[in-house]
Amino acid sequence: MSAPEISTIGVVGLGAMGSGIAQLAVQGGYEVVGREVTEELGDVARARIAHFLQRKVDKEQMTSGEREGALARLFTTTELSELGGCDLVIEAIVEELDAKCQLFSALEAIVRSDAILATNTSALSVTEIAASVSSPSRVVGMHFFNPAPLMPLVEIVRAELSADDAVETAFAVGERMGKRPIRCHDTPGFVVNRVLIPLLNDCLRVLDEARVTPEDLDTAMTAGAGWPMGPCTLVDLVGIDVHVHASEALYEKLREPRMAPPPRIVAMRNAGLLGRKSGRGFYVYD
Ligand code: CAA
Repeated sequence: MSAPEISTIGVVGLGAMGSGIAQLAVQGGYEVVGREVTEELGDVARARIAHFLQRKVDKEQMTSGEREGALARLFTTTELSELGGCDLVIEAIVEELDAKCQLFSALEAIVRSDAILATNTSALSVTEIAASVSSPSRVVGMHFFNPAPLMPLVEIVRAELSADDAVETAFAVGERMGKRPIRCHDTPGFVVNRVLIPLLNDCLRVLDEARVTPEDLDTAMTAGAGWPMGPCTLVDLVGIDVHVHASEALYEKLREPRMAPPPRIVAMRNAGLLGRKSGRGFYVYD
């Protein structure tokens, strides 16, 4: 396939990751069509992006004219059909294979034949998602990190049948969004989560083994290992449900015991203690 020039990017799912990706795209000068399931959720995402761009203006990292321009490039909709003119669509919906496959199959019927389809999945197989469309060469992974506007990395993931053009175009888009992209193949957890998920699970097991408090464990890893954020704070930020799901997905594929989520966080997930997003995880949030 020959990849198109990218000027309009669709983002499906405007939650924490999708709204961050949409923010990066409008900051990078792209027109963005963001799709959410309700208008209210679209408005929440727009308000969130407007807020973070205002903070950039306050800190003189952006002019108010640039902020207005960026917000004017953001169009939100509840209709998937509005993504018909997109050159690249980045999916950031729920981490469920069936839901993603259904979405990709629907997108294929809507976008041009040369449009690229990217998934922000963190623990599912891009190759398996690509199998839901008739032209899997157009499918790649673009895996951003939480919080997407702040974390410099994006993993550009080549699936079994990804075309070189699609991979290189996604890489160039990552650069224009101000990220530091890397190329990797579609293996469980790609690069960062393959390392970070078992590491965080080790940290969480230490909570019980060493009988430390979450505060002390976070102090240990920030003050003793130079982490920018302690593991409990990080898991609360990522979302305990997201972390458990990613751990289970990697454990299922690799069968390494360290990948399996510690029972304590499975219980927290089941109890609705999801971290920042639910107001309570290892810490309590306003
Ligand atoms: N979106 C956009 N802007 C944001 C933001 C967000 N979600 N959150 C914060 N900001 C902006 C704010 O405007 C803030 O400035 P103000 O406070 O002046 O408003 C500015 O960013 C800086 O925020 P902080 O002062 O909190 O920044 P910091 O210097 O403390 O760094 C951090 C924050 C970059 C998150 C740093 O703590 C860090 O690197 N933490 C580690 C995060 C990490 O490891 N993420 C990966 C998670 S794993 C993952 O994502 C993979 C997966 O698949 C699950």
